[in-house]
Formats: sequence, structure tokens, C-alpha cells
Amino acid sequence: MEILFCTSPLNSKNVDNDYAREAQAASAYFTINYDALVNENDISSALRRIPKTEKPRLAIYRGWMMTPEKYATFYHALANFGVTLINTPKQYQHCHYFPENYPIIQELTPKSIWIKNGDNFSIKAIMKALEPFGSHPIILKDYVKSQKHYWNEACFIRSATNQSAVSKVVQRFLELQGGQAEGGLVFREYVAFEPIGTHWKSGMPLTLEFRIFFLHKKPIAIYPYWDKGKYPLPPLERFRKIAQRVDSHFFTMDVAKSQYFGWLIVELGDAQVAGLPFSDLWTNITTVRFLLHTKLVATASCNRAVLSTGVNSRETPGITILS
Ligand SMILES: Nc1ncnc2c1ncn2[C@@H]1O[C@H](COP(=O)(O)OP(=O)(O)O)[C@@H](O)[C@H]1O
Ligand SMILES: [Mg+2]
Repeated sequence: MEILFCTSPLNSKNVDNDYAREAQAASAYFTINYDALVNENDISSALRRIPKTEKPRLAIYRGWMMTPEKYATFYHALANFGVTLINTPKQYQHCHYFPENYPIIQELTPKSIWIKNGDNFSIKAIMKALEPFGSHPIILKDYVKSQKHYWNEACFIRSATNQSAVSKVVQRFLELQGGQAEGGLVFREYVAFEPIGTHWKSGMPLTLEFRIFFLHKKPIAIYPYWDKGKYPLPPLERFRKIAQRVDSHFFTMDVAKSQYFGWLIVELGDAQVAGLPFSDLWTNITTVRFLLHTKLVATASCNRAVLSTGVNSRETPGITILS
């Protein structure tokens, strides 16, 4: 299993600073130029440092998010070098775009509706679409991300029937997105998740949330989303059945504890573009263990080889590597 990291925008010989520690932990990796791929449409520059082989190699990309269209370009161009990314473009989109996976997670996630780009974004059309929520509070995001750090102005809407609040929040959200939602607008019933404080910088309410990494549908690592103390792990059993239905070889599932409905799924994501915990408290060893484990589990399950790594079920500060 090869790992592909993004190069630094400042020096294309180096791995992007945000992934430097992961690169340090990976024994074999190559780099791609994200800017050339995503902003300059220059795929040959982007893949300049990827060696070409006849023999197919399986790879994981660890880098910045990109649209499903870009991912498809990336995926197919890599195939010319003998590299197959762990997730096909369809699988990437399945976890990256909320409406694609909502039917699968529906039973364990807050009720949601969406309006896709190109459809009517008038306030009248939005208010009509929000009718199923009654006067319940809701939150807004697009197919990929929210503006959670602008919680009161661009995410939380105290009543789905309050037209002026809806209008203000949608406007502000779109403004922060540079005028364009990715995919479209998603409105979700607000659920009271267990509060654990507020974000030190943005003041957004923090909730008891964990990120679980799944490789070949098995949970391999889990960590608390917010660095706010030690909490008991969520019941993985509750999410195992749904994980089997997710069409992806490598994905994340964010789960949070609600005050009335127990543990729920907040969102899925493609694990290739998912963040790892990197506050000052996390040690290098955390990432080393995660990557080594990912690599070994992946290689083992691809080759059907026996795992004899000794990297099983260990707890590090923050991240738990599951056996
Ligand atoms: N339906 C909801 N009800 C209450 N809070 C929510 C809901 N959905 C998300 N949140 C809160 O908002 C945060 C951001 O939402 P999320 O869907 O994870 O967007 P992002 O992709 O930007 O992280 C979550 O971490 C959670 O704290
Ligand atoms: Mg999230």
C-alpha cells in the first residue's frame, strides 16, 4: 500500500506542512501537487513525481479535499501510472456528498433535506422545503461542510419557520462559501448533543463527538473530535451494521451522543481527506501508529496475509487503535 501526500505550496519538494508528520510515519510515499491538480488543471505537473510501473499498486491519498469531478480526474490519471486509489470515484462521492449516503445512515442520523445547486434557492422555495421540520430548530451545511465556526450567523437556525432567520443564515453561509455551496444546501433537524464546552477561538458549541476510521468496513481507529478531556468510547456495535452498507473501502464516520436518542451519526467522509487529531498534545507516535496500522491492515486484507505487527488495540493519548 502506497501513500500519496500533497506537496507544500511553498516548496514542491516537501510534503505539505499539515501532512509532514504523517509522511514521516509512512515508510513509502510519493507526492502530488494539489494546486496543479485542482486549481491549474495541469494533471501532468500534478503527478510529475509518481513513478510508472506495469505492476498495479494500491494507494491511499492523504491530503486536501477535492470535488468528486477532480477526484475522478485524479483517479483515472493515476491509473496510467499503475496506481489504483483505494476508493473509486463513485465510492469517494458516496461518502463525500451527504445526500449520497443519507439513505444508508438515515435510521441513525437527524432528519435532513437538501436543495441541489441549480434548483430554486429563493426564500419561498427554501421555506417550502423546510415544512417537514415544522418550527423545530435546524442546522445548515452544504453537501460537504458546514460553517460551524460561524455557528449563530451561518449554521444554526432557531426555528425552521422563521423566514428572516433562515434567509439571514443562508445568505451568510453562501457569502462565507464565496457565493457557492458545494453540491447544494442541506438542512438538518437540530438534535441536542451532549455539550462539552465551547470552541476556544470561534465560540461554537462543542459536543461529545468521535471520529471512527473504517478500513474495509472494519473500525480501525477512533478519536475524540474535540480535545476536551477523556470520554468513554461510543458503542461501536451500534454502527457496525450501517458500516457494512457504506460503499467505500476507507471512510470515516463521525458519531455524537445525543441527549435523548443515544449515539447518532453526524456525517460520513472519505478517510483519504479526513483530518487526524493534531493538537499540540498529540504525539508523533499517534500518527505513526495510525498509519502503520492502516498500512498493515490494508496490506494484510489485500494480500490475505497474516498480520503479525504487534500494533493491536493500543491506547495512545487521544487516539485508540482498534484490533
Ligand atoms: N443535526 C445536528 N444537530 C445539532 N448539532 C449538529 C447537527 N449536525 C451537526 N451538528 C454540530 O455541528 C458540527 C458541524 O456539523 P458537521 O455536519 O460535522 O459539519 P462539518 O462537515 O463542517 O464538520 C458537528 O460537529 C456538530 O457539533
Ligand atoms: Mg464534522
